[in-house]
Order: sequence, then structure tokens, then C-alpha cells
Amino acid sequence: MRIAALADLHFSPQSYDRIREAMTRLRDEADLLILAGDLTNLGKPEEMESMLATFMRLRVPIVAVLGNHDLECGKQDELTKMMMAEGVKVLDGSGYERDGVGFAGTKGFIGGFGRGVLTAFGEPEVKAFVQSAINETLKLERAMSMLRTEKRIVVTHYSPVVDTVRGEPEQIYPYLGSSRLAEVIDRHQAVLAVHGHAHHGALEGKTTGGVPVYNVALPLLMARTPPAPYRLFDV
Ligand SMILES: [Fe+2]
Ligand SMILES: [Fe+2]
Repeated sequence: MRIAALADLHFSPQSYDRIREAMTRLRDEADLLILAGDLTNLGKPEEMESMLATFMRLRVPIVAVLGNHDLECGKQDELTKMMMAEGVKVLDGSGYERDGVGFAGTKGFIGGFGRGVLTAFGEPEVKAFVQSAINETLKLERAMSMLRTEKRIVVTHYSPVVDTVRGEPEQIYPYLGSSRLAEVIDRHQAVLAVHGHAHHGALEGKTTGGVPVYNVALPLLMARTPPAPYRLFDV
């Protein structure tokens, strides 16, 4: 299966003009498109409506997770319904199988990496925050265990590894992802993981278990030579 992936569209008709031409090749190059969150800029239904109108015309099956920007207006349930009505598989602690390939997805959360992972100690506010990161990890775990396919791909918005956020200011690494997600990826031996959010991170990394991780944030993909609005994987 040929899979295209991108994240961080922050969709507006104006910003889409930059990639419109290149996106016409998608249908010839890929059997499925992954959208790894931040599909909209402010999570407004009207943004989602114009995003969907554009992407449905590409006539490629879409698997998506939401990103933090899609939650900004608190209308994430409405956005999810709009996407599902168009046939988009929105993963939120759930799995989807197609042609022998499984997709496990969740938004993920922040909290840092490796020795820097924030732990649940002290104030209730800190504990609640850490619990949000743990909950996203549990959702990914549930999604992975739902899949019966041998090949499994993990889709999150936040990064599961520090490798792919390098390039961003080091002070904000803890806000770009959580290595708690990588523990699940390794335990279930995904073939690869894709994420976004770190617009100025690095294209590739690995979990400690050796699973390749790809940052498919659009600004990062468009900064390559030659620029291309999606990354292709053959699995
Ligand atoms: Fe983003
Ligand atoms: Fe984001």
C-alpha cells in the first residue's frame, strides 16, 4: 500500500494555493492519505467545511487525527462528525484496517521526552496534566490492540520522540510531544509512526526500539528540496 502523509495544514483556501498544484498528483501516487492533525487553524466548522470540500475532490481515502489547533474552539466533536460524514476515518484512540494495513491513531499530548518526562507529583494541577498525557497513551494502546493486521502504523499529532522535534527551540521541546507514546509504539512494534505539530523539527527519527518516526508537518515538508506537500511510504 502506498501511503501519503501530511500534517499541519492549518487550512485556508489561500494557504492551500501553495500546494494545490502538487496535490493533484496525490491520486496517482498514493492509495491513502494520512492527515496528522491541525487540519484547521482555529478549529472552526467553517474552516473544516472548506478543507473537506477541497480534500474530498482529491478522491483518496483519508485517515486523520485531530491536532491542538482543531480543539481551539471546543468544537472538536462537530468537526469529527463533519469529517466522518464525508467518509474520513477519524482516529481518536481507535483503529482502522484497510487492505491488510492497520492504522492506530490518537492526538497525543505534551509532557516531554526521556528523562525530561513530567511525572505526576505534587499539585493536583500537575497530576491532572500528566493524567492527560497518560490517557492519550492508553488510547493509543487501545487502538493498537484493536488491530489484527501484521503491519500497523501509528498516527499522532504530537511527537512520540525527541529526534523529530530537533530544530525547534530546545526550551519548547516538552510542549511538542511525549515519549510516553513511544513506549506503546515499541511494545506493539509498529512499522512506522507519523506525527506533526513540530513545524520546524526534523524529518526523521527513531524510537528506542528502532521504529522509524516521521514528522510530516507541512512547513517542514515544503522546506525540502524539492518541496512536496506530502511524504510517501510504501508498506
Ligand atoms: Fe500545527
Ligand atoms: Fe499542533
